[in-house]
Amino acid sequence: MAAPTVATTREELAALLADARGAGRCVGFVPTMGALHEGHASLMRTARQRIAGGPLVVSIFVNPLQFGAEEDLDRYPRTLDADLEVCAREGVDIVFAPSVEEVYPGGEPQVMIRAGALAKVLEGKSRPGHFRGVLTVVAKLFGLVRPDVAVFGQKDYQQLTLVRRMVLDLNMGVEVVGAETVREPDGLALSSRNRYLDPEQRHAASALSRALRAAQENARYGVEVARDEARAELREHLVDLDYLVITDPDLGELPADVPPGTAARILVAARVGTTRLIDNMELRF
Ligand code: PAJ
Repeated sequence: MAAPTVATTREELAALLADARGAGRCVGFVPTMGALHEGHASLMRTARQRIAGGPLVVSIFVNPLQFGAEEDLDRYPRTLDADLEVCAREGVDIVFAPSVEEVYPGGEPQVMIRAGALAKVLEGKSRPGHFRGVLTVVAKLFGLVRPDVAVFGQKDYQQLTLVRRMVLDLNMGVEVVGAETVREPDGLALSSRNRYLDPEQRHAASALSRALRAAQENARYGVEVARDEARAELREHLVDLDYLVITDPDLGELPADVPPGTAARILVAARVGTTRLIDNMELRF
């Protein structure tokens, strides 16, 4: 497979996309922070299916704006060479890998995306400002790439929900596709942060997905039972639970009485050692 062309500046990116845009081809986009794994690769394949022969753009940018002061910005893995190999394998046409100065000339932008109430719960509660940083960089990247289709993972369900909301509320005209979570054989959702885990923590981490599956299997007995079964699964392991919640598919509150067949989402966040892990699955009552 041919290696993708790498653009590090906005001008290079614009020049690479000009011809395709002129020819009216669909532009596909997968934003990432690099340290690419099979989860990211699956988003690239989903994007490719949607755009046929149009240009597929992957951005690799560790966005300082979405990391809190105490978070892992400095130790976040940076593996550009290996990432380019993944992109080559998946038939990516353009990799946009800008520097922080290229994305934020003059430092933090003055105008940013206020993510609203949905950004203050779940992940947003323990990571204040996180989603403002995510949505601001996604809006900037959309402005540079101007994709027809952008693919995000369900793994980061609150992020996906907020990106959809931003595109809707601000009429961005991008089709947002949510792709299934790719997992290890024992169920652990692939994540660039899994490499922080030592073998014992790696073992404990698999309890997250087991808990969500336990909830899925018990959803027919109602919300309480589903949540209790999930909690029981987590109690047996060395995980420091942050939240375990069941919401409606848009992260809103479920009605008190859920009629059979109602779709919902169960979301979990926990710390294993110093590593914060998240996961979520669909539930049907
Ligand atoms: P990053 O964590 O690199 O993730 C990039 C994309 O890959 C996101 O849409 C994420 O949901 C998806 N992804 C991660 N693990 C996955 C898995 N196991 N299965 C399927 N998809 C998976 O999310 C970000 O970067 C950033 O916040 C970003 C959107 C790039 C903005 O900076």
